[in-house]
Amino acid sequence: MALVTTKEMFKKAYAGKYSIGAFNINNLEILQGVVNGAKAKNSAVIVQCSSGAIKYAGPKYLQAMVKTAVEETGIDLALHLDHGPDLDTVKLCVENGFTSVMFDGSHFDYDENVAKTKEVVDYAHAHGVVVEAELGVLAGVEDDVSAAEHIYTDPDQAVDFVGKTGIDSLAIAIGTSHGAFKFPPDFKPSLRFDILEQVQEKLPDFPIVLHGASAVDPEAVATCNKYGGNIANAKGIPVDMLRKASSMAVCKINMDTDLRLAMTAAVRKTFGDSPEVFDPRKYLGAGRDYIQQVVEGKIDNVLGSANSLN
Ligand code: G3H
Ligand code: 13P
Ligand code: ZN
Repeated sequence: MALVTTKEMFKKAYAGKYSIGAFNINNLEILQGVVNGAKAKNSAVIVQCSSGAIKYAGPKYLQAMVKTAVEETGIDLALHLDHGPDLDTVKLCVENGFTSVMFDGSHFDYDENVAKTKEVVDYAHAHGVVVEAELGVLAGVEDDVSAAEHIYTDPDQAVDFVGKTGIDSLAIAIGTSHGAFKFPPDFKPSLRFDILEQVQEKLPDFPIVLHGASAVDPEAVATCNKYGGNIANAKGIPVDMLRKASSMAVCKINMDTDLRLAMTAAVRKTFGDSPEVFDPRKYLGAGRDYIQQVVEGKIDNVLGSANSLN
């Protein structure tokens, strides 16, 4: 058992019409919730860390924890840099044992995105590490999100981009967005499956990635708010749309917000129900358990990846 790249995972996921969940981790309890969920469902999983997570916990702590999770669970795990901003961050992660990196040049103009991505690919591939990159723009967490504000991926440009950069997987924009406020309250969510279909047709067998794919469970939000939180108008991607994408060319689905909501709901509930508690293992343990429950639900209802380790 080892830290592995996503190559084999994606090959199996594409053929099996399911996706691998990529869950963001920042500390021990989140990691344990994720890997315990994957283990319970006998599912492959990707553990990913943003540059914010790397600043928060340090690449060495993160890598050592994830490597330990491989030994504890007996599951091969991919350790992925999420939204790598530059080559220096990519190098830091590769030097510290990450097996997969994302370089996010989606905010640069096209030619600059190609050039910077290619530089990352040359470096990462020389070190046995796979690369995800992005084309198109997802509406941001703090933006007043509506479908019109996304810059959807152009399928022909996707073909050109993959050819010129040599990346291993591509994140596309089809209407998902980051954070807990993906759509205005009375907006009917929709994803551009026509774009995904064209990308799939033009890039056969090529793994596609969806970012910003949390479903934003109303129950988790309600629990946060019941116990003193103030999260108004949160709205995510409908689960059935994600499951449809995972049965197509989408091989990796990124979720972070749903884990944050689960952790916060469980911690708030513990404090609310048991004000005498001050042992961090009690409230963080409750968060860990809720995250495991959420991850198991994702594997069953969003990803379709249960028993993918067989
Ligand atoms: O897509 C972004 C992830 O949710 C990571 O967020 O940069 O706050 O760690 P973060
Ligand atoms: P969510 O904010 O929808 O969980 O998306 C997370 C993500 O895309 C991480 O890269
Ligand atoms: Zn993302």
